[in-house]
Formats: sequence, structure tokens, C-alpha cells
Amino acid sequence: MEVIITEEERIGELVADDIAALVARVPDGVLGLATGSSPLRIYDSVARRVDAGTLSLARARAFTLDEYVGLPAGHPAGYRTVIDADFVSRVDLPADAVQGPDGTAADLAAACAAYEAAIRDAGGVDLQILGIGTDGHIAFNEPGSSLSSRTRVKTLTEQTRRDNARFFDGDLESVPRHCLTQGLGTIMEARHIVLVATGAGKAQAVHHLVEGAVSALWPATILQHHPRVSVLIDEAAASRLQ
Ligand code: F6R
Repeated sequence: MEVIITEEERIGELVADDIAALVARVPDGVLGLATGSSPLRIYDSVARRVDAGTLSLARARAFTLDEYVGLPAGHPAGYRTVIDADFVSRVDLPADAVQGPDGTAADLAAACAAYEAAIRDAGGVDLQILGIGTDGHIAFNEPGSSLSSRTRVKTLTEQTRRDNARFFDGDLESVPRHCLTQGLGTIMEARHIVLVATGAGKAQAVHHLVEGAVSALWPATILQHHPRVSVLIDEAAASRLQ
């Protein structure tokens, strides 16, 4: 695990460099996209490069990590809507080249199996971008998740629902209780994983991620077993590292 402590602005540029290097090598490379605040600087950097004509994702493909269950398509807080607004609509990635788990499916188990198959059929994820929750979750693999889990339905913890209520006008009751998420085993199959975290609120989770024992209680710790993980954090998120 490589740990880079730098300014938030620089994190965006460094990960954009990784994305540019991937598509230079493999123009139809597969990106794994996270929603949330953490990757926004990355998406800004990539969008600037696409605007400037120095980077193109026209042949790339992408998979998102997770989705709420039960939000109608187009709901402003739905992760597909969010990733379209934050990233897809700002770059030249074709909208139909981006897939996410279907939280509106009548048969959620079948939707999860179909998602696993779609990732497999695309040849797997080349570069997976991750954030980390204050409780150590990655994607929506909350504490207690099986370290070898696959895409499945999960119950969101109260902590995560509270953390995400800001995307539902602060109304905790509107935050869904369930989600579909790639499993830890699914994420571990990505060829390169880049986790970004900023701010003191992430310091405890980052401490466990980098220095803690591998445990389902801090799901991100499974990344210690991955051969190629880059952790990019600012000073505040690094403040509890030994
Ligand atoms: C988002 C996701 C989550 C977030 C995490 C951190 O697709 O899977 O694991 O990465 O909750 O969220 P932010 O970046 O908003 O602090």
C-alpha cells in the first residue's frame, strides 16, 4: 500500500494523471467510479483536461460502486444521477458506457448477479477510485461486511445514513435504509485501487485502513491485501497515523 500525504488540490491532479496514463495505455480501459465528496477534485481535474483537449475518455468504460434501493431513476440523490452530474456529463465518456447497480429492480438479487457479470464481461476494472466512510466502509460495505463479499443488498448503518442526510436536504427519514453495493471481494479484483480521503473526520478510518488489523469491523482494511493500492490523503486525514 502506497500512502501519499499531500494537498487536496494535488490529490485530484495525481489521480487524473493515473487516469490519463491508463487511457494512454488502454484507450478502452475500465474505470471504477465512486460518488460522494472525496473524488470531486479528481473529477474536476479530469474534466479540465477533457475540456482542454489533453485527455479523452471517449472509448473508456466505467462502473459505479453502489446505489440506493428504491429511489426512482433521476432522483437527485440517486448515485447514478450524482455521478452523471459530477462527472459523466462533464467529460466525453459516452453515457451508455457507464453502468451502475440497478436499485429499482424488482429482483434485486438478480440485478446484483447481472452487475457482477457485466463487470466480468468488461474484463474487470482497471482503475478503481474509492472514498472511505467515517466508519471505515468502502462502497457501502459497512462494518461487519464479509471480506470476500460480492455485489449484494446491504442495510445502511445509522452513521452512514446520518452522514448522507446532507444529500436529502438534511432529512434523515428520506435517506433509504438499503443499498446495492459491490462487495469487498468485487472491489479487490480491480487491478489498481486509488483511495482518497481528506479532512480530520476521516483520520480514524484512515488510521485503521493503513495501520489497523485486517478486520470486517473496518472493511477498508482488506485493501492491505491488495497488491496495488494508492492511498492519497491530506494532512488532516493523516493526523492519526503513527
Ligand atoms: C460512494 C461510496 C462511499 C463513499 C464514502 C465517503 O460511492 O461508495 O463509500 O466513498 O461514503 O463519502 P464522501 O466522499 O462523501 O465522504
